[in-house]
Amino acid sequence: MTGVSVAIDGPAGTGKSTVAREVARRLRLAYFDTGATYRVGTLWCMREGVDLANQDDVAAMVETMNVSMVLDPRNPRVILEDDDVTSLIRSDTVALTVSKVATNLEARAALGQWQRDVIAAEVAGGFSEGRGVVTEGRDITTVIAPDADVRILMTADEEVRVARRAGEGADAATVREAVLGRDKKDATVVNFHTAADGVITVDTTDLTIEEAVQAVMDLVIAVRPEL
Ligand code: DC
Repeated sequence: MTGVSVAIDGPAGTGKSTVAREVARRLRLAYFDTGATYRVGTLWCMREGVDLANQDDVAAMVETMNVSMVLDPRNPRVILEDDDVTSLIRSDTVALTVSKVATNLEARAALGQWQRDVIAAEVAGGFSEGRGVVTEGRDITTVIAPDADVRILMTADEEVRVARRAGEGADAATVREAVLGRDKKDATVVNFHTAADGVITVDTTDLTIEEAVQAVMDLVIAVRPEL
């Protein structure tokens, strides 16, 4: 049997990343954060002085960038041209700019192909040695891996999502823009607020992280008890 493919979508602040990473760690699967592919594409364009409003230039840059990702859920890394940019891609500057790349359809096509290749490699071998991969993003259950074994949409009430991000340190206005403003821009090209057919919704509004992890673990174990 090939490795398991678990797809988790949802907006910011639902606990998606924490849960995806922890489930991958417990089940010894690869952890693939597709948001990081958009973030590193943004950083690369900024570094190279590309005008982010120029859609063709951005798409061309993203197609040629030299990036590798370490899919270890204990220590995921993003390497751009031999430079470890794992922390840098989390900066406010990147967070407030990344929608320019995420709403660029040509760039999405290039990054999407890369994402499909990574998932295929992990299901067959790769870091997980073929056990499989937990992939998180916005369009994984619908566009990138609609045939995944487990497809989950993680949701939570808007105010709860903002409050969770605010708890991570940044000031309130930045957080509100980073969470809701970005969701609004991103939602113009992908739907990650309603579950597509066959996608299971996990609402984390009233769940602790541990409860959300358990909910996802149960869904994975239900289809792959051998894990
Ligand atoms: O999950 P994140 O905050 O790291 O995502 C970064 C950006 O990329 C965000 O603006 C949404 C976008 N994104 C996307 O459009 N599709 C994905 N599969 C993952 C992220």
